[in-house]
Amino acid sequence: MQEKIEIIKKEFEEELSKSSTLADLENLRIKYLSKNGSITLLFEDLRNAGREEKPVLGKSLNELKNYCQSSYQALKEKIESSVSSDFSSLDLTLPGRNTSFGRKHIVIKTLDEIKSIFKRMGFSIYDGPEVESDYNNFEALNFPDDHPARDMQDTFFINKDFLLRTHTSPVQIRVMKDQPPPIRAIMPGKVFRNEDINARSHCLFHQVEGLCVDTDITFAELKGTLFAFAKEFYGSDIKYRFRSSFFPFTEPSAEMDITCYLCKGAGCRICKHTGWLEILGCGMVDPNVFKSVGYDDEKYTGYAFGMGIERIALLKYGIDDIRILFENDLRFLRQF
Ligand code: DAH
Repeated sequence: MQEKIEIIKKEFEEELSKSSTLADLENLRIKYLSKNGSITLLFEDLRNAGREEKPVLGKSLNELKNYCQSSYQALKEKIESSVSSDFSSLDLTLPGRNTSFGRKHIVIKTLDEIKSIFKRMGFSIYDGPEVESDYNNFEALNFPDDHPARDMQDTFFINKDFLLRTHTSPVQIRVMKDQPPPIRAIMPGKVFRNEDINARSHCLFHQVEGLCVDTDITFAELKGTLFAFAKEFYGSDIKYRFRSSFFPFTEPSAEMDITCYLCKGAGCRICKHTGWLEILGCGMVDPNVFKSVGYDDEKYTGYAFGMGIERIALLKYGIDDIRILFENDLRFLRQF
């Protein structure tokens, strides 16, 4: 075996001296140092060596391996650096290669636009984790364990206490637990629901949550802020209306509709001939939510709202199937 080691070393040195390109070197590496290379295979032979000679042979074999590896590496670096500083093959008269730039997905574009409008109105931006506690997602938001409102959201539970958040509202809880009022914040992010995937709904989508808490915050402020947002986003000629609704974490609760920006209220396919489009849910923060984060519900009032981004993007770009947003088909994405 010692002989074999010597022979291999000689052969390696000879071949190394003849190697002048990276391709030669790669062949050399495969022949000697790869998984089936002759040096690696010698290590397998070592198993059959006698007890006494094993340590000696092992040592020479290791030396051989280290020697070959470092000689190979040194030559490789030398060739690479000479290749990168050799400009003789560079033809500066050749036309350049086009770099194609990526672009933002329309969901992200829509999200960015929404964020920038609220930022200009003085809102800060927060985010929270997608894996959330049952407590933050439901309990602290005034959904007790057996509350029927939990049926509104089919949930991906991770275990008894944790789940994939079904809405961005739990980030309200995190923000309020983190700091005292005043708060004026939006919280964008991914949400998950255990729903069948079809043209209208998906198990994954994005929402933006909004929260404003201070002394003397009124429903009029909620309306003013959301109308200012809608005018900025959909155009100043839209009209709006609030319909009363129910959410466990707001009281009173409402849904906001705007006149369909396509038919301007006359009725069309997009607004299902009603002239109106629902764009978000909102309301005044329920005192029970303030209690769960330790805020004084006598002193503070606040409003909250939440909107689904995919829905807004689909409406804005006139797309009628949500699934296409998640397929990453470049022929579709390149159109925006
Ligand atoms: N979390 C609600 C949902 O997922 C949306 C929502 C409604 C958020 C009203 C709010 C709100 O903050 O006040 O459907």
